[in-house]
Amino acid sequence: GAPVTVSVDKIEPGQQITVEWRGKPVWIIRRTEEMLENIEQLSPRMKDPESETASQQPAYISGAQRSLKPEFIVLVGICTHLGCVPSYRPEVAPADLGSEWLGGLFCPCHGSRFDLSGRVFANQPAPLNLEVPPYRFDDDATMTIG
Ligand code: FES
Repeated sequence: GAPVTVSVDKIEPGQQITVEWRGKPVWIIRRTEEMLENIEQLSPRMKDPESETASQQPAYISGAQRSLKPEFIVLVGICTHLGCVPSYRPEVAPADLGSEWLGGLFCPCHGSRFDLSGRVFANQPAPLNLEVPPYRFDDDATMTIG
């Protein structure tokens, strides 16, 4: 599959866009300061908080934010359980997800919960964090995936 070049400067803070890469949905989410703070706060509740499973991100991606620039997270939008597409649920404490929900990704098939770095919470059906695909920034406004 060919690399995909995407303009990211028009993505609003808190907005998610989807692009297709190698036949898969790839999400780019522009995270707000509040979202980034919540991610740090959630680390103790994660299955693999430092993303030490090498299959799930390139070697140059590490830490809780899992990104080259903290405001932009890039994720393959396929659940690591059985391959459903999770929903983007950025809101804090919605009625259906509960008061501890600080924004994240929710898989409707079997209920796996992920934070806004694509890290899976402990005790979820999904075994692994969502995959971060290979990508780079060409300049401040443009990224290439693949
Ligand atoms: Fe996502 Fe099962 S496919 S929880």
